[in-house]
Formats: sequence, structure tokens, C-alpha cells
Amino acid sequence: MLVSLKEIIDIAEKGNFAIPAFNVYNTETVMAVVKAAEEMRAPVIMQVYPRLLNQEVGYYLCPAILAAAKKATVPVCFHLDHGATEVEIHRALRWGATGIMYDGSVHSFEENVENTKRFVEICGTVDVTVEGELGHIGSVNDDAMDEFTDPAEAAEFVKRTGVTCLAVLIGNAHGHYKKPPKLDIERVKAIREATGGIPLVLHGGSGIPDEEVKAVVKAGIRKMNIGTDVCCSFAEGTKEILEDPNRSLAIDMFMKHPIEVVKKLAIDKIKLVGADGKA
Ligand code: 13P
Repeated sequence: MLVSLKEIIDIAEKGNFAIPAFNVYNTETVMAVVKAAEEMRAPVIMQVYPRLLNQEVGYYLCPAILAAAKKATVPVCFHLDHGATEVEIHRALRWGATGIMYDGSVHSFEENVENTKRFVEICGTVDVTVEGELGHIGSVNDDAMDEFTDPAEAAEFVKRTGVTCLAVLIGNAHGHYKKPPKLDIERVKAIREATGGIPLVLHGGSGIPDEEVKAVVKAGIRKMNIGTDVCCSFAEGTKEILEDPNRSLAIDMFMKHPIEVVKKLAIDKIKLVGADGKA
């Protein structure tokens, strides 16, 4: 069933686990995530980068995500990931997203607060809530990381913006980590305490050692994003099937294998964040 960001985050908060938020890119990755969620009886988020909301891709992909979410027998939220402009946010709402991330982390604190607050209000007019970001979560290829999220600033940010959940910088980054990251677990606890328990979001969920993930979930991470691992699994599955001389030429037949590989990854991540059996 299609649910809102608030509804799905509330389930995680009550159960002390994290919702896995998978970046999806095509019908096959949508199918893989929903199959995994149903098999594991897990609530999940399917999210898209703003570049996928243009007329060329969004026109086909967003209705597929919505149809899959509505048909699913477990709670599924359709979320915009890293929305950075008003146009991107309007597009996502128009395509039926039930959760919006506004990422104003490249701006000054004041500007981030002002923009986020405005998008919370705009999205609120259609009952959609917002994930904010404080502390810019960059890429593993960046020369340096931004300063980690400050608990006192997070408290002020949450109070002034009214976000439903907050993405934080605690040693995480997007992409393939060059060496396994060490997350600042004490900071997660401190941000939770300072904000009165705002649900926190971990971006860059691909390649973080399992023990680190378990520890941050215990400390208050309630949504973990997984993008790179979805892409790698899909590419790996496609490569394997293309190398099989006996494979079928029919696209729907040979796509079964990449779907299975992504589904297996999704099952592993669902279990890792403790979402299995929570639907
Ligand atoms: P990865 O691609 O590193 O898993 O990060 C995904 C993400 O955080 C999307 O916002």
C-alpha cells in the first residue's frame, strides 16, 4: 500500500529500526524492491533522483513506482531524493510522490532553514512531509568532507523548519567508499537527544560495514539510503546473464536474472536495518 513519509517513518520510530530507502531507476529495480519487501514483510521506501523526474523518464517511471506501491501488500513510500529546487519539488508532487527530500545543505544555515521551512509549508498543503539535510553529504570523490552535523544546530534546524526527518553527516558519503567508513555513533545519539528524538537519515548506505550500520540504527537512524549497491547489483546481474550463451533473447526473460540479483541485495539490506517482519 502507498503510504506517506511520515507514516513509514513512524513505523520505524515505534519499532526502533530503519526503513531501507532504495534508489530505483527503471521498472526492473522497482520490481526487485517490491518483491523483496513483500517476501520479507518489510516497509520500504522507493526514491528517485530529481534527474529521473523529467518528461522523458518520469512520465514512465513514476507511474510504475506508484502502481507497484499501491499494489504492494506492505507499506511503500514514493520519495523524492535530494530535491534541490522548487521545480524539482513541484514535479515530484505532480508525479505523486508521498515524501519529499529538500537538500539545502550547500547553502548557509540561514538559507537552508528558510528554504526548507518554505518547502515544508508548500508540501504540507498537499499533506506531504519533508526530509531535510544539515551537514552537506558529498561524494566519496570529494577532496574533503563538510563539517559533521552539529547537535545544537540540528535542534534549531528541526524546530524552525518542521521537517519529519533529518539527513545528517556523520562520516558517510555517496558512492563506493575507498575504505570502510567509521561513523560517529556518539554524534547520532547527541543529535537525537538535542532534537528531542527527530528520526535521522543515513545517506550513502552502500558499503558501510554491517556492524556500523547496526550501531547507528540502534542510536537513532530511521531511514537508510541505498543507491550505488542497487546499480552495481543490476549491472552485475545483467553482465552475468549476457555472458550466458543459453540465455533467452526475450528481454523480459533475461531481465529475470538482474531482478533476482537486486532483490537479493534488497533482502540483505532489509534484514540489516531490522525492517524484516515489521510490515
Ligand atoms: P549510495 O549510492 O552511496 O548508496 O547513497 C545513496 C544515497 O544516499 C541517495 O541519497
